[in-house]
Amino acid sequence: GEGRVATTIRDYIRTIPDFPHEGIMFRDVTTLMGDARGFRMAVDMLVHPYAGRRIDHVAGLEARGFILGGAVAHQLSTGFTPIRKKGKLPARAIAEEYTLEYATAVVEMHDDAIQPGEGVLLVDDLLATGGTAAAGVRLIERLGGVVIGCAFVIDLPDLGGRKRLEGMGLDVHALCE
Ligand code: PRP
Ligand code: ADE
Repeated sequence: GEGRVATTIRDYIRTIPDFPHEGIMFRDVTTLMGDARGFRMAVDMLVHPYAGRRIDHVAGLEARGFILGGAVAHQLSTGFTPIRKKGKLPARAIAEEYTLEYATAVVEMHDDAIQPGEGVLLVDDLLATGGTAAAGVRLIERLGGVVIGCAFVIDLPDLGGRKRLEGMGLDVHALCE
């Protein structure tokens, strides 16, 4: 129709200025995930490059990577495993530390979540510095998993995460910048 253009992933993402700190433009994917067409579009696009690949498991990063990664795993007919913030997982887990702006944080994965040689797709909503994803990759690789790709809805290219992950030899897939 008149003046109609296709709706893209970006159109569904809301930006909240000064959250959680002054000067941060927070890219809020709850509006994307809350819309039926937006959520389906995002999950279909996250899955697309990996449909013919040997993915045995999807690993999702807390918290929004759980929602997206769970749907991706369902669509790829794989299992899903959560990579959680320290202290949340009930069984024996391995940990990796990563750096934030002024501090460090720790993510964990159950030590039996991935079997050696399994192909793993890492999923999260957003790639910034890549510190969180790199820690997730280290966890997967310590268990003998092979990271087939790292898939994100949003890449913030100025923060260098894509370069960092590609520098580790990883395949990076993002739906928008
Ligand atoms: C956000 C985002 C990614 C991470 C990206 O999560 O969902 O997981 O930051 O940043 P990085 O590339 O610089 O590591 P956050 O740490 O805010 O945690 P949350 O999902 O629990 O809100
Ligand atoms: N994580 C790091 N930077 C972010 C941003 N601008 N929006 C949402 N999540 C983030």
